[in-house]
Amino acid sequence: MTGSGLVETLTRRIERVHGKLPRRVFVLTSPPIWALWNETFLASFTEPPIVLFLAPGEEHKTLKSVERLLRQMAVAGGDRGSLLIAFGGGIVGDVGGFLAAIFMRGIPYIQVPTTFLAQVDSSVGGKTGVNLPAGKNLVGSFHHPLAVFADINVLGTLPDRELRAGLMESVKAGIIRDRALLRYMEEHADQVLAREPKALEKVIAASIRMKAGVVNLDERESGLRMILNFGHTVGHALEQATGYKKLLHGEAVAWGMVAALFLARQRGTISPAQFARLENLVHRYGPRPALKLRKAKVAAATGGDKKNVGGVRRFVLPLGIGDAGVVEDVTPAELEAAVEYMLARATQEERT
Ligand SMILES: NC(=O)c1ccc[n+]([C@@H]2O[C@H](COP(=O)([O-])OP(=O)(O)OC[C@H]3O[C@@H](n4cnc5c(N)ncnc54)[C@H](O)[C@@H]3O)[C@@H](O)[C@H]2O)c1
Ligand SMILES: [Zn+2]
Repeated sequence: MTGSGLVETLTRRIERVHGKLPRRVFVLTSPPIWALWNETFLASFTEPPIVLFLAPGEEHKTLKSVERLLRQMAVAGGDRGSLLIAFGGGIVGDVGGFLAAIFMRGIPYIQVPTTFLAQVDSSVGGKTGVNLPAGKNLVGSFHHPLAVFADINVLGTLPDRELRAGLMESVKAGIIRDRALLRYMEEHADQVLAREPKALEKVIAASIRMKAGVVNLDERESGLRMILNFGHTVGHALEQATGYKKLLHGEAVAWGMVAALFLARQRGTISPAQFARLENLVHRYGPRPALKLRKAKVAAATGGDKKNVGGVRRFVLPLGIGDAGVVEDVTPAELEAAVEYMLARATQEERT
């Protein structure tokens, strides 16, 4: 659920879905988040939970961290009846969910996501896991949380850049499946970016509804769930080509959506007017860092996306507004044209 003031009333809310709190309650968080929000978080606890820390940054989303945390849970007396609460962004959520999936062969857990991205995307759908040196999210498990409490108050301390990046997943949700959300984000961009509670709540609730709906229909990503990858084929390529350092995930997805929209316009699955409307919306929630990349490098990185089964380059293309489909026959020439358009826009963005 989403709303304000969920964190300070957490135990009561957890008891509604779990029953009485068990003897050992673990909280996985990161030091900066805990420094900002520990008082609010602890407000509803009578017995303090056991707090486990994961340092911020993708480089800590590893099996090494997982082993350390599992050991700490065992030493602290964790058992099969224990409960884990993941209190942080997507990294804490993915690692926390994975701990809960494998500790004692699985314990229940609760997500309390603190970034916009985690609230609308990573806490929904049950995917948990960590990275390997060979790539992101290569190890993991499907393990659904008992509940997700997305408190918009905690977004108050989120840096603006993180907010704008996370909002790209909501723009994506609107484009592929929810016209009403799309229109709302067009008409209320000022309120959303100013973090007006009503506007945030509306966008978050609609985004969660979209993702949860798609995941329910296709839990293991065999068909429909693939549309959630709109903007991600080129987006992942950009993250890879920039060494996962320069762009936030949502920023890479924004440019990936621009490339995919161009492709869709060329193929006629959206009209030129729809293209202009959708691209405007992506830019409305910018700006984002400029890209200085060569077309060939991006195109090459696009070929290696892990979501491409058997080496097929798979693209999600919008079909009009609020619908999308998957194509696998994008030619190298089409891809290059789309990347070229996107890179030209990305250079313009730098000058404005
Ligand atoms: N499981 C899934 O389905 C799924 C989907 C999308 C993304 N992900 C994963 O999510 C991760 C990215 O998540 P993210 O974008 O939330 O990044 P993140 O977890 O790295 O958080 C971003 C930054 O914001 C800080 N932060 C978090 N909440 C804050 C707050 N309330 N106030 C101030 N600072 C705060 C964090 O300390 C961090 O520095 C990636 O590892 C990605 O693979 C998973
Ligand atoms: Zn994404």
